Amino acid sequence: MAYSAPVNEQSVPSHTPYNAPLLKTSASHIVTPRSALFIDSILNEQDDNTEDHSRAVGDLGYRVGVEMTTNPQRYDVPFAIAAKINPVELEVGGLLHDTGKIYGHIKEKIMNPEPLGKDDLKIVQAHTHLGFKVLKNYVGSEIALVGSDHHENYDGSGYPNGKKGDEIPLYARIIKIIDSYHAMTSDRPYHNSITHEEALYELQQGRDTLYDPQITDIVLQILDDIHQEQQSSIIRFPTILKPTGS
Ligand SMILES: [Fe+2]
Ligand SMILES: [Fe+2]
Repeated sequence: MAYSAPVNEQSVPSHTPYNAPLLKTSASHIVTPRSALFIDSILNEQDDNTEDHSRAVGDLGYRVGVEMTTNPQRYDVPFAIAAKINPVELEVGGLLHDTGKIYGHIKEKIMNPEPLGKDDLKIVQAHTHLGFKVLKNYVGSEIALVGSDHHENYDGSGYPNGKKGDEIPLYARIIKIIDSYHAMTSDRPYHNSITHEEALYELQQGRDTLYDPQITDIVLQILDDIHQEQQSSIIRFPTILKPTGS
């Protein structure tokens, strides 16, 4: 299928609840049935890989938020940072960070297993500002800014606006690390997954350039604890993994 309209003029698919009463509220951590429906409609519009990825980043966002706020001493989270975090908002930010990928012309590029050319890359990168365009009507600005800023780099070399350091909102700096971690540890049409340990190493390498160094130290420790916990629960409940009927 051909999608020829210019990026900025693409309309949101008509069956998303674009004209539904707004969910916008400063208390965006209160997930109402209507906001749950909105999140679900966005995820259902995405291709299968992006939907799975968004759900996983949402889950990890929540877990990281819980640990940062309930175990600040363990992870050396300064009070000023812990006080700004709501785990449910981080979950919603993770679930919605790739909202811009619901646009058909972007979806088409993502689902194509061929490596992306320069022009294709530009089209896919537009998911950031297009995501913001949708989200700003439904969720609080901190979450909408996750949609636009999760590909900004700490040193200013990212996109769409080349923001750097603290210009990048806190939730976007956190979700960026979780987003990269999940992308690295998952198989994609264009790359094979790497191990948890390799991903932590790669993320560590981007400390200071791609990622906020202080947030990197905190989030990597938490991701490692979550991973260890998952590994030990597999060992503790081996019967879950047994194939049935054999
Ligand atoms: Fe993205
Ligand atoms: Fe992502």
